[in-house]
Amino acid sequence: MSNIQTTTQTSVQSSGSISVRASTVPLKPTGALDKYEHVDLTPVIGREYPNVQLTDLLNAENADELIRELAIIVSQRNVVFFRNQDIDIEKQKLLGNKLGILSGRPQNSGLHIHPTTQPTSELGLEISVITSKNPKKKEYESELDISRFASREWHSDITFEPVPSDFAILKVHTLPEVGGDTVWASGYEAYDRLSPALAKHLEGLTALHDARQFKIYAKHIGITLNDGPRGNPENIGTSLQTIHPVIRTNPVTGWKALFVNKNFTRRILELTKDESDATLDYLHRLVTENHDLQVRFRWNKNDVAIWANSASFHNVTRDYGDEFREGNRVVSLGERPYFDPTSKSRREALGLKRWSDL
Ligand SMILES: [Fe+2]
Repeated sequence: MSNIQTTTQTSVQSSGSISVRASTVPLKPTGALDKYEHVDLTPVIGREYPNVQLTDLLNAENADELIRELAIIVSQRNVVFFRNQDIDIEKQKLLGNKLGILSGRPQNSGLHIHPTTQPTSELGLEISVITSKNPKKKEYESELDISRFASREWHSDITFEPVPSDFAILKVHTLPEVGGDTVWASGYEAYDRLSPALAKHLEGLTALHDARQFKIYAKHIGITLNDGPRGNPENIGTSLQTIHPVIRTNPVTGWKALFVNKNFTRRILELTKDESDATLDYLHRLVTENHDLQVRFRWNKNDVAIWANSASFHNVTRDYGDEFREGNRVVSLGERPYFDPTSKSRREALGLKRWSDL
């Protein structure tokens, strides 16, 4: 463990801190998307626009205003859904970049290149193909000796990168006859359910994120990991480890969110291993055992989900046996996560009752 810490801290220090935002003042919505029919799917997370084509937003005269507003709404609601979309790969990448740029990401951030994506990839480096065709998955999972519980894969995308993701856009084009739903959970609401004493304890702590599973996967299928830069000059090398705050401030909303996840977060560095294990277990349970901070989406062909990796967690439901499920994902990069002690929780900012007072 001490070796991991030393390695990671060294790489963090040597890479400097260039991926910061020009402004950390939260963005205010303008109401530019209010005219489109929409429905909030739960009180705390998820929204669907049943009749909007994302390409119409991109082609509109005021496209930048609309996409900036979309970035704010995704940041507030964690995940937003669009049915039966005609958006193609190039426009999906354009949208990913626009969401980040118009909501103030650092200039050196672009679209992520996943470390397992190969130079020969048919759709290019900036598209992750999310597919059920993974014949060696069981083999490398047995080496990891991981849980078979469906909850084991709750995560935010690519938090092993020093500069992780702000937004992700997934379009699913092939689905099993039934099943394959995705579930998202709110990092804001998870934070809001902490007692003030525990919240205060966690604020300012940092955690190690590590994607060792991708190294084992690469070894099993005989590929070389992409050593970067992966969409940002700080996302380099193949350690696939970094350190992030346990509680982070979302830069778009200014709200505090829980930022540890079951799939990548290994250790809270300021605690002993036993304290860290117990704390992470509690925080993961907070996310996975409270279905009233989650939203479950049943996909239809060509539906699109856009989510804020900076304030949410998600998990696919692998209940479809050997059937084929596949989609294309664009992951844009934000800034180095930070915690602003003056920021507010979502409930506090919206004037809602504290969870403990409900
Ligand atoms: Fe994911």
